[in-house]
Amino acid sequence: MSRLSRAAVHRPGTRDLDLTSVEVADPAPGTVLVRMGASGVCGSDRHVLDGDWTLPSPTVMGHEGAGTVEAVGEGVTDVAVGDSVILSWFYPCRRCTACVSGRSYVCTGSRSEECLLPDGSTPLSLDGEKAFPYLSVGSMSEYAVVPEAGAIRIPREVPFDVASLIGCSVATGFGAVVNDAGVEAGTSAVVVGTGGVGLSIIMALQLVGANPIIAVDLNEEKLVAAKAFGATHTLTPSDGLADEVHRLTGGGAAYAFEAIGRVSTIESLPSLIAAGGKAVIVGLPPEDSPISIDALALAEGGKSLIGSNYGSTVPGRDFPRLAQLFLAGRLPVDQLISHRITLNEVNEAFEAMRRGERARSVIVF
Ligand code: APR
Ligand code: ZN
Repeated sequence: MSRLSRAAVHRPGTRDLDLTSVEVADPAPGTVLVRMGASGVCGSDRHVLDGDWTLPSPTVMGHEGAGTVEAVGEGVTDVAVGDSVILSWFYPCRRCTACVSGRSYVCTGSRSEECLLPDGSTPLSLDGEKAFPYLSVGSMSEYAVVPEAGAIRIPREVPFDVASLIGCSVATGFGAVVNDAGVEAGTSAVVVGTGGVGLSIIMALQLVGANPIIAVDLNEEKLVAAKAFGATHTLTPSDGLADEVHRLTGGGAAYAFEAIGRVSTIESLPSLIAAGGKAVIVGLPPEDSPISIDALALAEGGKSLIGSNYGSTVPGRDFPRLAQLFLAGRLPVDQLISHRITLNEVNEAFEAMRRGERARSVIVF
């Protein structure tokens, strides 16, 4: 028996999400039905609305979600009815070479980017036609059906609004710092763009003891938030940004992170780091975004420029760790939430994001 679920649906050619009811199927073998508790409003959803990336449509948006397991399909053993779970927007296939060697973040068997379940089906329909859950999550909906490998149990004490953010921005930011960059205590870092993802990077830099931590954003409010999360210095982008970073770090930062997804700020990363430094692209640019960098300066300086997708998160390992860090008071994820909203207010939240406002809006169901 399927159920109707109120959801925020994207159709190409329009930036406004349609608030309507979709039909959500019962969980098939290996999948889980989740009653959503909360869904964050993330920059990656905005990319889709603004036409930066192409996807199967209509699409139920939302990929940063947490909720309660309402029913499980045949053969599901990892989670049970009543469990609190965080959804992962990249579910590992658990069979490919990457997965079996513990590097599920480069899994080649996942169909999450196609917005499909492992068997190639979709659990959603709208007016009798197929609909697709964004990144196989679709958390801007009262109910979601996700693969077992994409629903990670966490302690019930973690509120859903916090848990939802652990599922994308916090995992991405923390993973970029810890899994990808491997930042050491006492080393310097600069973060360009301090929305939900950039602020999560700063939170992780503070936790691992980076110093100084330099935050860069166009928006003054975001920079105030950055200071609260541990930034030691804040800057607005200007022609003199690289000089300023070199002055504050005594010759360039050891690590630089871009958390906007803009070609020009990605191209500026190598100029912010010292010889031997590491620059990490965390923000996701639109499709077909070639970048141009000075290869000689990169080579002569022994600098690295790496991409980080989802912070190379291993959801089953990292989500529970992040939840425990929050419960221990060492990762103030709750302070990332600037606005708690209803599903009906989602379009306003994206408009505010386009203006560079709000640390993170979270839809609470
Ligand atoms: N220079 C500095 N800061 C900028 C600039 C710029 N040229 N342009 C935008 N910003 C700032 C905005 O003011 C905002 O604070 O970048 C921040 C982007 O934050 P959000 O819109 O909240 O996006 P977020 O959810 O953090 O995602 C950032 O990471 O995962 C990816 O797809 C996601 O590409 C997106 C990026
Ligand atoms: Zn996201």
